[in-house]
Amino acid sequence: MTHEIGSKSCQDLWRLSPGVTYLNHGSFGPPPESVKAARRVWQDRLDCQPMDFFVRHYEPAWRSSRRVLAEWIGADERNLVFVENATAAMNVIADALKLNAGDEVALTDHEYGAVYRIWERATQRAKDAKLRTIRLPLPIESAEHLVESIFQATTDRTRILVVSHITSPTAITLPVQDMVRQAHRRGIAVCIDGPHAIAQLALDLEQIGCDFYCASCHKWLCAPFGSGFLYVAPQFQKLIQPPLLSWGRLLPNRVEVWSDEFIWSGTRDPSPYLTIPAAIEFLEDVGLPYFRESTHALAQYARKRLVELTGKEPLVPDSPGWYTSMAHVPLPPGNAETLQKRLWAEYAIEVPIIAWNDRRWIRVSCHLYNTREEIDFLIDALQQTI
Ligand SMILES: Cc1ncc(COP(=O)(O)O)c(C=O)c1O
Repeated sequence: MTHEIGSKSCQDLWRLSPGVTYLNHGSFGPPPESVKAARRVWQDRLDCQPMDFFVRHYEPAWRSSRRVLAEWIGADERNLVFVENATAAMNVIADALKLNAGDEVALTDHEYGAVYRIWERATQRAKDAKLRTIRLPLPIESAEHLVESIFQATTDRTRILVVSHITSPTAITLPVQDMVRQAHRRGIAVCIDGPHAIAQLALDLEQIGCDFYCASCHKWLCAPFGSGFLYVAPQFQKLIQPPLLSWGRLLPNRVEVWSDEFIWSGTRDPSPYLTIPAAIEFLEDVGLPYFRESTHALAQYARKRLVELTGKEPLVPDSPGWYTSMAHVPLPPGNAETLQKRLWAEYAIEVPIIAWNDRRWIRVSCHLYNTREEIDFLIDALQQTI
C-alpha cells in the first residue's frame, strides 16, 4: 500500500485553489497535475499539426484509449464508446429506446435530477408512456429488501429500469447486479447511471450484465472534464444513434459497426478521451486499494463526526458495501441553499447541502487530497451555521 508517488504526498499531486476546502469531488472532480500534463501533450500534438493528428493518429489513439478503459472496467471494448459525460450517454439511450403508448420507465427516487428530466421528456414524447418513480424503503436495511421493493413497483408494462450505481442525492451504493438479474427475469432492460462508481468501485460491467451503463470519467477517476462513456450490450446496439451525425470515421474509412459512429462527430478537441489512460495510470500508481481504503476511512470519519454533531442517523449502515468515498448525513431542518452559501461565503468550504425528500442533507466527498483537518474545519463551521 502506498500513499505517495516518489517524494510527493497525495495532497501535492493536485494544484487546487489555496484557501479553499474542497469537499465536492463528487460533483466536479479536479484532475491532478499529471493528468493535466498528459492532456496538454495531446492538445499540443493536435495544435502543432492537425492534419497529421486527425488523419493519421486520432483513430488509433481513440481505439487504444478505449481498450485501456474497457479492460479497466471489465467491458468488452466492442460495447463501449466515448461521450462527453454521463448526461450525453443517458440522452443517447433515451432517444434510442422507442417507447410505445402504455410503456413505463421506472426510476428510483434517488436518481439524479437531470436524469429524471431526460426520461420525463422521453416519456412525454411517446404519448401515454409513463414515468414511474419508485420510493426506496428508508432507512435501508438489506439489499434483498431494497431489490424486492423495486420489483414490487414495476409492472408488466415496465420497459426499462434506470438506476444509479452510486446515488447522487444520497451517496448510496445500490446492488445493481441483483437488480439486473431480477429485471431480466421480467423482461425489463436496465440502464445504470454510474458516474460516481468509476474508481470508487472495482467494476466488471460484463459481469453486472446490464444493458446500458452511462458514466463520466471526470469525477472519481480524475480524467479531464468532458470525458465519459456509454456501454451498450450487443442486443441493443442496432438501436443506437450518435447524437451528432457526422462521418463516424474520417474518410476514406467507413462505418462498419455501431461504435464507429462515435469516433468522429465533427472537428473537436478529443484530448479528454485520450487522457483517460493517464488518469487510470495515476490511480494505479497511487494504488487502487489505498485510494479506496483511505477515501472510505476519511468518509467514515466525516460521517462519525457529523452524526456526533447532529445526533441524526444516516440512511445506510456503516459499511463500505453501502457507501464508499462520500459521507451522507441528515441535517437539522433549515434552508439547504442558505447553508451552502454561508459555508462558502464565510468559510470557503465547497460542500453540497442537498434538499431531498423534504429534508436537508450534507454530502461530503473525500478524495486523496482531502484531510481530517478539513473535516474538522467543516464540523467547526457547521457548529456555527446549523
Ligand atoms: C448520479 C449522477 N448521474 C449523472 C450525473 C451527470 O453527470 P455529468 O454532469 O458529468 O454528465 C451526475 C452528476 O453529478 C450524477 O451524480
